[in-house]
Amino acid sequence: MASSSSSLLPCLLTLFLFMKISLATNFYQATEITWGNGRGQILNNGDLLTLSLDKTSGSGFQSKNEYLYAKIDMDIKLVPGNSAGTVTAYYLSSQGSTHDEIDFEFLGNLSGDPYTLHTNVFTQGKGNREQQFRLWFDPTVNFHKYSVVWNPQHIIFLVDDTPIRDFKNHESQGIAFPKNQPMRMYSSLWDAEDWATRGGLVKTDWSQAPFKASYQNFNENACVWSSGSSSCGSSNSQPWFNQELDTANQAAMKSVQEKYMIYNYCTDVKRFSQGLPPECSLP
Ligand SMILES: *[C@@H]1O[C@H](CO)[C@@H](O)[C@H](O)[C@H]1NC(C)=O
Repeated sequence: MASSSSSLLPCLLTLFLFMKISLATNFYQATEITWGNGRGQILNNGDLLTLSLDKTSGSGFQSKNEYLYAKIDMDIKLVPGNSAGTVTAYYLSSQGSTHDEIDFEFLGNLSGDPYTLHTNVFTQGKGNREQQFRLWFDPTVNFHKYSVVWNPQHIIFLVDDTPIRDFKNHESQGIAFPKNQPMRMYSSLWDAEDWATRGGLVKTDWSQAPFKASYQNFNENACVWSSGSSSCGSSNSQPWFNQELDTANQAAMKSVQEKYMIYNYCTDVKRFSQGLPPECSLP
């Protein structure tokens, strides 16, 4: 008995280690490449996904699952070098003209110039809630983790686990919040030279093509939507489902916003000359 259990232990440890490592979803199992005619590829047994863009086409992929509330994480390494004109989009979206959408978009730049991280929230087909940031690292050298927490009370955007934006549920004040249209994760790499870099002044340098972005460690902690109902039911004990920012996280977010936010729709009185959107004056 003793000898068999002692030989079992290393096995179990290896198994647990393996389970921990394989927590991230396999791209083969969890996603499908939807366009780009071979420009999107799943590699390393499903641990790595790459998208590429050349003059003919970009590429994209999406989650197989649809979610009604989720926390999703993705490690992304963005297009290096002269990436001006390219946009890497990573977002959750439902379908149709009154869709809900939660966006991360990374706008490339000339070599050595910083990316813009663009965020937006659409509810019932209406967006116009842009906030843009610089990053506090070069996002093209290493993988960094970009996460969305979407639960009944909050939409929280995080970069390497630091919250950068918190869109709260203010339905009680008449502001729509995404809560009944299931969303999928989508990501794509495409050319937006007509607007992305300094309003289209800087064009994509196609001599640098193909442009490539890489993905790993996709995690979907989600209420999966299937045949008209959610896997979570009414009670949900997963921590992200009730997640909100504690004092420390609120301070961290405030500090990022002070240092790195470069555009905030809530302060753009020129654009909203008829009055800022209602959520802008709420706590
Ligand atoms: C590119 O870098 C310049 C110079 O820092 C900056 O003004 C511009 O906003 C950047 N463009 C994008 C798309 O991030």
